[in-house]
Amino acid sequence: MSASMASTEPKVRRSFLSVPDLTHADLERLLTLAAEMKADRGLGRGAPTADALGGQHVALLFEKPSLRTRCTFEVAIHELGGHTVHLPAQFSEAVREPLEDVARNLERWIAALVIRTYRQETAVACSAAAPRLRVINALSDEHHPCQALADVLTLREHWGTFRGRTLAYVGDGNNVATSLAQAATMMGVTVHIATPAGYELPRGVTKALTGLTRDGAELRLFTNPREAVAGAHAVYTDVWTSMGQEREAVKRRGIFADYRVDRTLMAAASPGALFMHCLPAHRGEEVTAEVLESRASVVFDQAENRLHTQKALLAMLLGAP
Ligand code: CP
Ligand code: NVA
Repeated sequence: MSASMASTEPKVRRSFLSVPDLTHADLERLLTLAAEMKADRGLGRGAPTADALGGQHVALLFEKPSLRTRCTFEVAIHELGGHTVHLPAQFSEAVREPLEDVARNLERWIAALVIRTYRQETAVACSAAAPRLRVINALSDEHHPCQALADVLTLREHWGTFRGRTLAYVGDGNNVATSLAQAATMMGVTVHIATPAGYELPRGVTKALTGLTRDGAELRLFTNPREAVAGAHAVYTDVWTSMGQEREAVKRRGIFADYRVDRTLMAAASPGALFMHCLPAHRGEEVTAEVLESRASVVFDQAENRLHTQKALLAMLLGAP
């Protein structure tokens, strides 16, 4: 068992529905454990955490498409000695029985539910109805907390330290922006967010963020992307049209046109700034192909780190005491 797993700190024993479900100490520990698991991965079944789930079952329920999240959770569960149960998306529609009853059944058989859903309340309701079921939010319209775990690990790998660093997010104040801003400010990173008027982070999120920051980190909101990236050590963007908003795609292309991350915008950031994106990316929309494929781009490091951070999360939620 690794040093992080053997820690005497209380184990996370809750669901993970949004980033602030973790304390600062939980998040620090998760990043340390994820880095250890990444280093140990080549050991395969010989890795200290290869049986961390001890044969427990984890259900996966996705209402929306997914490549990275679905694949990395499935691999993570197998690599930790657990088993996956795939549930059809229709269960969350509560046609055959209430969703709460689905959750109350699941908690009698399985340890955790990984759920990608439209409404955050769906994941919250599952967690509330079945307290023994660990519910992990694999993206909702409002949050993408598992993505943010991978993002902060990637930042730490490239920067070495969070202290004194600034991250600029440019685009839609969406689920990815919310979870990223929460995780980064918790780690002491100053976060700049540039959005068009009407597409800001939800007011409740920005208000609560002031209580999460540390080490002098700040949250600063902009409408001008050039002002937001000035002095930034990383520039992050996401799609302009999220899953479920497809009917707004044409309108959004017009509204966000000045928020494209291109060579000129990257040149306005700090020299050596990283480019980040949760993927999938739309080349020529929110980012040019040139920036996405440039040396600054760490998008596939982010994708890889989805696996290691989710393994750490699962081990902390479900590992042996
Ligand atoms: N970044 C991310 O969550 O990718 P998927 O939608 O493919 O899971
Ligand atoms: N904001 C995007 C993220 C996809 C990983 C969406 O919700 O579709």
